[in-house]
Amino acid sequence: MQAVVLVGGLGTRLYPLTADTPKQMLPVVDRPMIEHVVAHLAGHGVTRVVLSLGFRPEAFIDAYPDGTCAGMPIHYAVEPEPLDTAGAVRFAAIDAGIMETFLVLNGDVLTDLDVSAMVDDHRAAGATGTIALTQVDDPSRYGVVDLASGQEPDREPSAGASGLVRDFVEKPSPDEAPSRWVNAGTYVLEPSILDRIEVGRRVSIEREVFPALVAEGSLRALCSASYWLDTGTPETYLRAQFDLIDGTRARMAPVSSAAMVAADAEVDRSVLLPGASVASGARVCDAVLMEGAAVEAGATVRNSVLGPGARVGERAVVTGLSMIGRAAVAPADAKLNGTRLPNVPPDERSSGKG
Ligand code: GDD
Ligand code: MG
Repeated sequence: MQAVVLVGGLGTRLYPLTADTPKQMLPVVDRPMIEHVVAHLAGHGVTRVVLSLGFRPEAFIDAYPDGTCAGMPIHYAVEPEPLDTAGAVRFAAIDAGIMETFLVLNGDVLTDLDVSAMVDDHRAAGATGTIALTQVDDPSRYGVVDLASGQEPDREPSAGASGLVRDFVEKPSPDEAPSRWVNAGTYVLEPSILDRIEVGRRVSIEREVFPALVAEGSLRALCSASYWLDTGTPETYLRAQFDLIDGTRARMAPVSSAAMVAADAEVDRSVLLPGASVASGARVCDAVLMEGAAVEAGATVRNSVLGPGARVGERAVVTGLSMIGRAAVAPADAKLNGTRLPNVPPDERSSGKG
């Protein structure tokens, strides 16, 4: 089985961490996000991953020059221009010569989803497309699904239920969401779907392809209760790390042996990558310090991310989902709360000005 993994987005919501690094190459504890995604697929019979690349493809190609990632053979499909999710799937699948049932994954999702069970359900039902669903409290930033699960009408389906999709609405307003079951960003697709995706323009799988399949009764979905997280916002990017160190999902070692923490500094539930440093009297809590990031004496960093080589000056306080980009500096005594540094609007970035 081959899997197309979509990794070509701009990662705008994680700017400035994504100014020069695609979202899926950002570290999650000890390795780039994409390696967590690929390792999970290896456990479910996937034998080749097709990376659907757009924004900064060289970041992936340079990181895996021998054509393997987490031990898995990789095919690189580089879009000539952003084609949106369905356009990207079509381009990548054709580029890689996929002719059989295949998987598609949003590359920014970390999950323990039982992909094998999903493939079995898809094959048993003879479906054209099957999508995994996960239940969330606020569905409005996801694709929301109304499922004909065969269970009691007017009751939300339970985990394990599967059936035809009656409605798929991408990012509805909260009062329009038909349920709390949302598109988990993992699909099993038949190659016949590729013929329905128009060439030469951006096509969204969520806004065009899925609604069209729903209309003809050929899209299925399967409800999962497995661990699931879309890491695409500052809050969830941080949570992905906490879940892997505090026992929620795993208990990985959070502090690299090549990080430096002063004897009287305080470090709590935080990830410190090699070369990160926390000086005397400083406090770091619920934070990520990438390679070479420095927290100087008496400073506080809480619920925030410091990019590679970023620096927080003496006594400065950085809190509230602040994101300090590569080599950026929060000056001594500064108070940053929910601040992005530098703060160049992403649309200027994509037009080449940023
Ligand atoms: N190659 C390529 N080209 N990849 C793209 C493009 C593109 O033009 N646009 C987006 N991607 C990639 C992103 O890098 C990401 O891995 C994935 O496609 C999904 O894009 P996001 O920008 O993260 O979408 P989202 O999180 O707002 O919504 C999507 O994911 C939700 C679940 O996490 C949708 O699929 C929702 O329906 C879903 O619920
Ligand atoms: Mg996302």
